[in-house]
Amino acid sequence: MARHTSVETRYYAERDALFRELQRLDRRSFLKVSLAAAAAAFTSGVRFHPHSFQLVAVADAATKIEPFTFAYISDSHLYKRELNDRFVRQLLRAVDDVNALDSQPDFVLFGGDLAQLGAHEELDLGAQILKNVKAPVRMMVGEHDWFLDLGDKWRALFGQETYSFDHKGVHFVVLMSVNEEDFWTKRGMTPDERMHTVAGLDNGIQSRFQVGASQREWLKQDLAKIPSDTPVIVFSHSPLYKYYRPWNFWTEDADEVQAILKRFANVTVIHGHTHQLLTNRIGNVHFHGMLSTAWPWPYAPEGLPKLTVQMNRPDPFNPNDGLGTGTVSVKPSGAVDKLYNLWNRNPVQVAAAYVDSGGTRDKPSAATLTSF
Ligand SMILES: [Fe+2]
Ligand SMILES: [Fe+2]
Repeated sequence: MARHTSVETRYYAERDALFRELQRLDRRSFLKVSLAAAAAAFTSGVRFHPHSFQLVAVADAATKIEPFTFAYISDSHLYKRELNDRFVRQLLRAVDDVNALDSQPDFVLFGGDLAQLGAHEELDLGAQILKNVKAPVRMMVGEHDWFLDLGDKWRALFGQETYSFDHKGVHFVVLMSVNEEDFWTKRGMTPDERMHTVAGLDNGIQSRFQVGASQREWLKQDLAKIPSDTPVIVFSHSPLYKYYRPWNFWTEDADEVQAILKRFANVTVIHGHTHQLLTNRIGNVHFHGMLSTAWPWPYAPEGLPKLTVQMNRPDPFNPNDGLGTGTVSVKPSGAVDKLYNLWNRNPVQVAAAYVDSGGTRDKPSAATLTSF
C-alpha cells in the first residue's frame, strides 16, 4: 500500500530539491530549475508576458546616441533558505525571463534589496542566482542588504556601492540613497537589532534615508565633466523625492540631489524600494518606480504622485499578483516610455508624452482585474 504523503511533507521535499539544485547551479542546469519555478506560476486569464524585468531602450539620433537596451530586476528580498523559498523561485523566474529575451539587453540592473536581513547567506544566495544572468549585471544596494554589517559583505561580493559609467552616449549614475543617521550606537544596538530596525520601516526609531553630503559632493564632481545636453539616468534604491515619510518612501536630501541634476535637459531616475507602479515628474526629472519580485507594497495613504497609474489592490491569495517588472524605452527627448510587465495582469504602459504633458496626453489604460 502506498504511504500517504502530506501536503507539508511534499512541500518540504520540493523545497529541499530546489535548494539542492541551486547548489549545483550552472548555466546548463539553471534553465531546468527556473522553468520548474515558472511552472508553479499562475497566469490564468491574463495575457502572458514572459519578461519579468525592466527593459530600457535608448535611442537618440539627435545626440548620436547608439540605440541600446538594458533590463532590470529589483527587490527580491531573499531570506535564509530554512525560512523562505518562494522569493527564491520568484527571483529565478525573473532571471529566466531576462535570459529568454530574443535580443539580449546590454546589461541588467539589479535594483537593491537582494537580501531581506543583510545576512551573508542571503547575499551569497542572491549572488549565486544572479551569476546566471547572461548579460552583465550592474548592482545597486538597498537598505535590506546593508544594515547588518554596513555593506562589508555586499562590497565583497559586488564592489563599490556608488559609481557611474557611460554607455553609448548616456551617462549613468548609481547612488547609495539609503544612508541613515546613526541611531544604533547610543542605544547600544547589536548589528542584528540595527538591521531589524531598518527593515521595520515605520518604527519611528531610525532616521529617513539620505544620499548624504559626501556622496552629493561626489555626484557634483562626477557630473562636472558631463555636458548639459547629455541624457543622464540615475539609479537610486529609494525614490529621490519625498513621497510618504512614515514608511521611508522618502529621501531626506532629495531636494539637494534634484538641484544638482537641474542643469541637465534629460534626467530619468529609476528606483526600487516602493514595490509598486509609481510615476512622478519634478521639473526636468522623470521618476519611475519599479516592481518587486517578492511582494507588492500598498499605496501610501497620502503623497502619491498624481501621474501614478494606480494598480488595483493585488489578490492576497495569489503570491505572484502585483509582481513582475517591465519595459522602458528612452525617447530622443531623453524621456522614457515605460511598460510594466506584471506577472498576473495585463501590462500597463506609461508613455513619455503622458509624463511630459502632466497627464493630459497618452493617458495609460487602466490595469486589468479587480481590486481584492
Ligand atoms: Fe524592497
Ligand atoms: Fe528598500
